[in-house]
Amino acid sequence: MAMIEVKNVTKSYPIPKQKGRLTVLKNFSVDFDQEGVTVLLGPSGTGKSTLLRCINGLETIDEGDIVVNGLSVRDKRNHTRICVDCGMVFQHTTLFPQYDVLRNLTISPIKLLHMPRKEAEEKAAYYLDKVGLSGKVHAKHNELSGGEKQRISIARALMMNPKALLLDEITSALDR
Ligand SMILES: Nc1ncnc2c1ncn2[C@@H]1O[C@H](COP(=O)(O)OP(=O)(O)OP(=O)(O)O)[C@@H](O)[C@H]1O
Ligand SMILES: [Mg+2]
Repeated sequence: MAMIEVKNVTKSYPIPKQKGRLTVLKNFSVDFDQEGVTVLLGPSGTGKSTLLRCINGLETIDEGDIVVNGLSVRDKRNHTRICVDCGMVFQHTTLFPQYDVLRNLTISPIKLLHMPRKEAEEKAAYYLDKVGLSGKVHAKHNELSGGEKQRISIARALMMNPKALLLDEITSALDR
């Protein structure tokens, strides 16, 4: 069984001020194994980000099913588990603006995984070092460059020990 099974998924959005809907994914199926790296390539606006958001339950699907580690996204009770199993780094980075980098990294492991604060802070220090941002531990969202925010988002995703990482154009701000 694949880690992520996308089965005959159809996903559409309402079109503002028009009657119809824009179908982005039509009867789309794909499997992702836990091992290895899979790249989704396609022109702008073809549904890559939509697919990733559907996989971890951030978007609802119209038809079909997505099963992550045996759990269907159609059942909302599975969403927390699926989000823990599938770490996501967004195309447009979203850090909690009111918290510093350390709290952004530790809040989910402490609240969702019940990780002791000391362990979470040590782990955060480890991953911040890995992404070359140890010096930014107490910086806030508006004190960071675009690429720094992306690197912090990668560290934040890794904090949850995910089984899979959904990475949405995560190097777009790291071009230099
Ligand atoms: N919340 C939304 N409401 C309405 N339409 C949306 C919404 N999100 C995305 N779309 C539309 O769905 C289509 C697919 O968008 P999506 O963001 O998935 O594309 P993408 O392949 O990730 O593109 P890019 O390479 O530019 O990031 C686009 O036409 C977009 O305008
Ligand atoms: Mg996209």
